[in-house]
Amino acid sequence: MSGRTTMHRHDVRTSTAPLSRDPGSSRGPAPPQPGLRRLIGADLDAMCEGLRVTGPRLLARIALHVRWRAVIYWRLAQAWMHSPLTRPVALALTSRILSICGAELQPAARIGPGLVLKHTTGLVVGGGVMAGRRLTLHQNVTLGDRVPYGGQPRLGDDVTIGAGACVLGPILIGDRVTVAANSVVLSDVPSDCVVAGAPAKIVRRTDGPTKGAATSAHPSSRL
Ligand SMILES: CC(C)(COP(=O)(O)OP(=O)(O)OC[C@H]1O[C@@H](n2cnc3c(N)ncnc32)[C@H](O)[C@@H]1OP(=O)(O)O)[C@@H](O)C(=O)NCCC(=O)NCCS
Repeated sequence: MSGRTTMHRHDVRTSTAPLSRDPGSSRGPAPPQPGLRRLIGADLDAMCEGLRVTGPRLLARIALHVRWRAVIYWRLAQAWMHSPLTRPVALALTSRILSICGAELQPAARIGPGLVLKHTTGLVVGGGVMAGRRLTLHQNVTLGDRVPYGGQPRLGDDVTIGAGACVLGPILIGDRVTVAANSVVLSDVPSDCVVAGAPAKIVRRTDGPTKGAATSAHPSSRL
């Protein structure tokens, strides 16, 4: 974060947490992802939110609730986007997601396993977005550019974005961050905090990782 001199109390930019990176690293290459089956399996587990849902009950949820189908379609679109042969199918699935649930989820986004879409209406995730494990998104969230082609955010593990929040620009959001409903996040956020407001500021520090949990210099390095 060299070059940033403006310091405000509670401003997300005053973080002393280890966000070791150069300013352009949020646009760097994406780390490898697990296989498609593992990704979808992890997502469905996360969508069950601790409940043991298998077999016909799981199929019923997928059939009856569009948000479950949106997760699966998005994963398929992400996987099929990379080959010219399957790219048209990926784009068709992206349109399908938009038509069934009003969410614009770009297939080029890189989202780690354990994705949860709490609600899907008005959700927009740009193609340059990267996120770690167990991302939770509520309705009307926007993850994308602050200015056209200006870069998109990179999120760590266990991030929750509340309804109506916007996370904009090539910024880094740490691990275990909660973005309050209707916030506008425009600058880096350290791990283990809750941010709120427009522009968002830290309103609460939270506990760090549970004992034994993996850590690294920055969560985006292990997506
Ligand atoms: C942020 C949130 C998770 C609460 O987190 P918390 O750590 O329990 O925080 P608190 O409720 O103690 O609030 C801490 C401060 O942030 C403020 N705050 C909380 N949510 C806020 C919001 N959305 N916008 C602005 N300020 C907010 C509180 O007023 C409080 O301020 P104070 O210390 O001056 O009184 C919750 O308010 C929220 O926004 N959840 C989103 C859930 C959602 O999207 N639900 C949709 C369901 S359909």
